[in-house]
Amino acid sequence: MTWLCDFWRSSVGGKLTMAVTGVLLFLFVVGHLLGNLQLFSEPEHLADYAKLLHREPALLWAVRCVLGGALLLHVVTGIRLARQNRAARPVKYQKEEILVASFASRSMLLTGLTTLGFVVYHLLHFTAGVVHGAGAAKAGKFDGFDVHTMVVRSFENPSIALAYVGFMVVLFFHLAHGIQSFVQTLGLNHARYTPVIRRLSVVVAGLLAGGNILLPLSVLSGIVKVAP
Ligand code: HEM
Repeated sequence: MTWLCDFWRSSVGGKLTMAVTGVLLFLFVVGHLLGNLQLFSEPEHLADYAKLLHREPALLWAVRCVLGGALLLHVVTGIRLARQNRAARPVKYQKEEILVASFASRSMLLTGLTTLGFVVYHLLHFTAGVVHGAGAAKAGKFDGFDVHTMVVRSFENPSIALAYVGFMVVLFFHLAHGIQSFVQTLGLNHARYTPVIRRLSVVVAGLLAGGNILLPLSVLSGIVKVAP
């Protein structure tokens, strides 16, 4: 076990941990968005997605443990790497690139911790139903999973909808930088491809954050309503 800890503490081990856990969390965000987009179809479809999540409790908890573990490792390793980067930084910046790289890594810590805050708030909101009275709407028509009503009722409140939009903008910056760092960890940075990779990461992050932003905005603008 000590060799594993030593590897994790090394710079390469830390970067690899960030890459592997980052991919797992990224895949969750993609899958979760695809499920959430059911908000635009019949209310039963979003309920089916929620029921699917809860149908196999053992599987649900296995996935939750893997994702929770990945999230914890991602946060702890990210904080450690950011601290190491800061400690290694010269007192006065010699070159502009160092200033830019340092800003990127510092904004990653900030956007990462903000996204962690969002996940905690979001779990209290939709999973536990203990904030914004979401729990009352959840206990509804579809065997206790009237998820459509719960989500729509929540986003009808402009402050909740706009808070979600704000968090998704932060998620956009975190994903855009994260995808670039991931590609760098794989060693795929090449003068010719780096600008393409940078643009692609902005597009992918934009699609994910934009897809999520579409949900509260559609409710707020009245496009999606509570089913009659
Ligand atoms: C507007 C965007 C989003 C909507 C409408 C939404 C909706 C939901 C709903 C309704 C649930 C509860 C499902 C249930 O237990 O019945 C849920 C759970 C969850 N969401 Fe989201 N979500 C959004 C964005 C996100 C994002 C961006 C993340 C991650 C960064 C995220 C992470 C989670 C997690 C970790 C759970 C708990 C899954 C579990 O039960 O284990 N969500 N979301």
